Amino acid sequence: MKKRCPGIFMLLCHLSFTLSVHSQSSPDASAMQALRASLGNPINLNWSDPDPCNWNLVHCSNNHRVDKIIINSKNLTGSLPPELKNLYELTILGVSTNQLTGPIPSLAGLSLLQQLDFSHNNFSYMPPDFFTGLTSLQGIKLDYNQFSSWEIPESLNDASNLDSFSATSANISGTIPDFFGPDTFPGLIHLHLAMNKLQGPIPSSFAKSSIQTLWLNDQHKLNGSISVLQSMTSLTQLWLHGNLFTGPIPDLSGLDSLEDLSLRDNQLTGIVPLSLVNLPKLGKVNLTNNFLQGPTPKFDISKVVVDMKNGSNSFCLDDPGLACDNRITVLLSIVESMDYPEVFAKSWKGNDPCNNTPPPWLGIKCDKGKVTVVNYQNLSLPGTISSNFSKLQSLEQLLLPNNSLTGTIPNELTTLSNLTKLDVSNNNLNGSVPNFRQNVTVITYGNPHIQTFNGSSPPPEKPPGSSTETRTPPGPSDDRSNNPSDRKQIVVSIIAAVAVFGVLIVGLCVYFCTRKRKHSDTMIIKPHQAENSNAIKVKVAGPSANGGESEMQVAESGSMVIPIQVLRNTTDNFSEEKILGRGGFGTVYKGELQDGTKIAVKRMEVGVVSDKGLAEFKSEIAVLSMVRHRHLVALLGYCLEGNERLVVYEYMPQGTLGRHLFNWKEEQLKPLEWSTRLIIALDVAKGVEYLHSLAHQSFIHRDLKPYNILLGDDFRAKVADFGLVRLAPDIGQRSIETRVAGTFGYLAPEYAGSHI
Ligand SMILES: *[C@@H]1O[C@H](CO)[C@@H](O)[C@H](O)[C@H]1NC(C)=O
Ligand SMILES: *[C@@H]1O[C@H](CO)[C@@H](O)[C@H](O)[C@H]1NC(C)=O
Ligand SMILES: *[C@@H]1O[C@H](CO)[C@@H](O)[C@H](O)[C@H]1NC(C)=O
Ligand SMILES: *[C@@H]1O[C@H](CO)[C@@H](O)[C@H](O)[C@H]1NC(C)=O
Ligand SMILES: *[C@@H]1O[C@H](CO)[C@@H](O)[C@H](O)[C@H]1NC(C)=O
Ligand SMILES: *[C@@H]1O[C@H](CO)[C@@H](O)[C@H](O)[C@H]1NC(C)=O
Ligand SMILES: *[C@@H]1O[C@H](CO)[C@@H](O)[C@H](O)[C@H]1NC(C)=O
Ligand SMILES: *[C@@H]1O[C@H](CO)[C@@H](O)[C@H](O)[C@H]1NC(C)=O
Ligand SMILES: *[C@@H]1O[C@H](CO)[C@@H](O)[C@H](O)[C@H]1NC(C)=O
Ligand SMILES: *[C@@H]1O[C@H](CO)[C@@H](O)[C@H](O)[C@H]1NC(C)=O
Ligand SMILES: *[C@@H]1O[C@H](CO)[C@@H](O)[C@H](O)[C@H]1NC(C)=O
Ligand SMILES: *[C@@H]1O[C@H](CO)[C@@H](O)[C@H](O)[C@H]1NC(C)=O
Repeated sequence: MKKRCPGIFMLLCHLSFTLSVHSQSSPDASAMQALRASLGNPINLNWSDPDPCNWNLVHCSNNHRVDKIIINSKNLTGSLPPELKNLYELTILGVSTNQLTGPIPSLAGLSLLQQLDFSHNNFSYMPPDFFTGLTSLQGIKLDYNQFSSWEIPESLNDASNLDSFSATSANISGTIPDFFGPDTFPGLIHLHLAMNKLQGPIPSSFAKSSIQTLWLNDQHKLNGSISVLQSMTSLTQLWLHGNLFTGPIPDLSGLDSLEDLSLRDNQLTGIVPLSLVNLPKLGKVNLTNNFLQGPTPKFDISKVVVDMKNGSNSFCLDDPGLACDNRITVLLSIVESMDYPEVFAKSWKGNDPCNNTPPPWLGIKCDKGKVTVVNYQNLSLPGTISSNFSKLQSLEQLLLPNNSLTGTIPNELTTLSNLTKLDVSNNNLNGSVPNFRQNVTVITYGNPHIQTFNGSSPPPEKPPGSSTETRTPPGPSDDRSNNPSDRKQIVVSIIAAVAVFGVLIVGLCVYFCTRKRKHSDTMIIKPHQAENSNAIKVKVAGPSANGGESEMQVAESGSMVIPIQVLRNTTDNFSEEKILGRGGFGTVYKGELQDGTKIAVKRMEVGVVSDKGLAEFKSEIAVLSMVRHRHLVALLGYCLEGNERLVVYEYMPQGTLGRHLFNWKEEQLKPLEWSTRLIIALDVAKGVEYLHSLAHQSFIHRDLKPYNILLGDDFRAKVADFGLVRLAPDIGQRSIETRVAGTFGYLAPEYAGSHI
């Protein structure tokens, strides 16, 4: 179909063409026609037959579906059409080494695709969902294209059968995804991502991967340690050159297949491990342009092509295999515990740390060829303090302040006979400070976890003017708690309790400060008409010790006794479903009286109220039931039958304040607003004040806590459980004043303290 359809006949022409194709050829004909049409110069392919299965370089399966298209190196221009996604049976698509432009079409869902080669073209875009559903994909090449910047997409996860992923010079940015390891790609062998713009570290998921050839070179931005290589034992070819990798070359003794190692042009430090030098299959290694230290490694140059040009690293001597000066060996063994920091590797050149010709070695001061001062302050050093400092026997001052050192101060340092000063301040050391001689100044402040004195023995008395100064930082640094988390919990609970109590106290203060105090001796309590409008004044006999009469606000009470059958009925015989909560005195059930009044029935636990106290229970209830206040939960009645002791209260729909303060998340409640909290505190204060002010029969609640404060639908609060403390069995034996009652944590400390 060389001729083009002109003008308005194009559509008709195209239709008739496709019809004719359909009548006699593969169902993939239209997609293939689209492919031919979008390729700029298909003459190179000579695709003229109506049936694409007869085309050059196109292969069809037995059922006449296109399964392979391999049109590499055909000088093709143009682009790939989106219709390619309709070639359901495609297994291989190769368009490499042409001049194709435009986006790579989405092939999402072509689950039979095995091999794709788009390399060496001019494609402009890689769709992020490209790999979705490509579950059979084994190999893909995207190398050398002009993609706009893209990141390796998560959808690559779908292609878990991948053995080769190749995208050199493909404008990939972002970090290397954390999924190239054996868990996601157990069969991955080739990962070629050279010459992109990847940054960040080699992810730890590469550990134990099956990758044999890994190219991450020339990103100029990959950084961090290369220690993960240690467990990549399948590697044969490893190119990491042209990046910002730091730290030492790890132990490579497990990589016995490694043939080609390129680590040049990075910032690697430390001693080249013998395990690398001894690799059996190594044929090529380039270590040029790093900051490698110690002796120049001695490879077997009859087998290995080595490049590590003189001067491009920090080896102590040029001659391979020659050991460094002993002082250097010790200094390097010390900085090994700090991961061979780059500052030293850049500064420490040559084979004499005491060489006076500039530049001097960073942090080293010598006297007559002996290292007398090591001053590594302010260098952000990681790692630990090496016990090998003790091998610098001439050392007089060891200064390591302002770093990030962890671990302990090694005991070996006490053997330094000429040491006068050890400064490890402002690090993150722990453990105890060893016993240095008296004339050693030890400075340890700024290490929050260090123990200034050995073990648990008390600090030795320091003679005045002693030169041993074990300075510790201000504040609670000497934390010897064996279990800090326990402590934390206690502290948290105390804070919580204090916070709740604080709100109550504030409420009380606000309340008391804003109203006039009445005389405390007053026997007659003036009713707060506004708050007790339905209360009436009557005289009742109080059950108080002196038996005197007191005038107090009471409610009209009919019969307080409620038959147990009523309570059984309304609580479905005390069924689990009706439980509102459990408290110190028993279980509370929800119920409803015949007139529709909702009630809360407290069923006392057997034993809470002894038989002996039965009379007292009755009289107590009688009093409690008469105490009515807007901010006290009203007692509506009671029931005494057999062992049953039941008290009936008004029902408070929003439950306890405790659940709104502490359980709101679990119960999916809205946290209380601060204004609501203040109102609640004031309500509680009013209720408590009323209790306290009941003259002869004044009540001390003794167990005022969030779970004893109940809320109505308007979030106004009422105090519950007042007076019940008096119902406890031993009331007759001991005076209530001598017994501490209440929930620990909600008691005033001086009250608890004075009675325990
Ligand atoms: C194109 O293919 C046809 C048959 O399909 C053949 O006759 C012709 O010679 C081929 N031309 C070229 C340039 O290959
Ligand atoms: C490739 O195509 C261009 C024109 O698009 C032509 O100039 C060039 O000669 C062709 N090269 C080959 C090798 O066919
Ligand atoms: C790719 O396209 C650019 C212009 O966008 C052009 O300069 C370059 O030669 C093309 N490369 C190839 C291989 O066709
Ligand atoms: C890489 O992508 C960026 C952003 O899309 C673009 O500006 C740049 O030209 C691309 N580089 C290459 C080499 O294609
Ligand atoms: C690595 O480079 C990134 C930025 O590319 C930076 O944020 C990170 O701190 C570097 N990490 C290390 C260990 O240098
Ligand atoms: C080693 O790397 C340097 C660049 O850092 C390069 O010039 C040299 O050719 C490489 N040597 C070998 C043997 O590849
Ligand atoms: C480094 O240079 C010295 C001379 O300064 C030479 O003896 C030695 O062989 C060189 N080493 C390497 C590995 O090129
Ligand atoms: C240590 O570093 C801090 C800030 O990085 C700097 O202010 C201080 O002068 C440094 N001290 C020394 C002794 O270099
Ligand atoms: C001390 O040095 C020796 C030999 O250089 C080394 O084997 C050892 O691991 C070092 N110890 C520490 C704690 O670095
Ligand atoms: C310790 O100092 C003394 C006096 O300066 C010196 O003679 C001695 O050699 C030093 N010890 C070591 C191990 O350097
Ligand atoms: C440690 O760092 C602080 C601030 O970072 C600086 O003020 C102080 O001088 C430093 N001390 C030493 C000994 O470098
Ligand atoms: C420190 O005291 C010891 C004895 O405890 C003594 O042998 C040593 O010479 C003294 N060192 C210095 C530097 O004064």
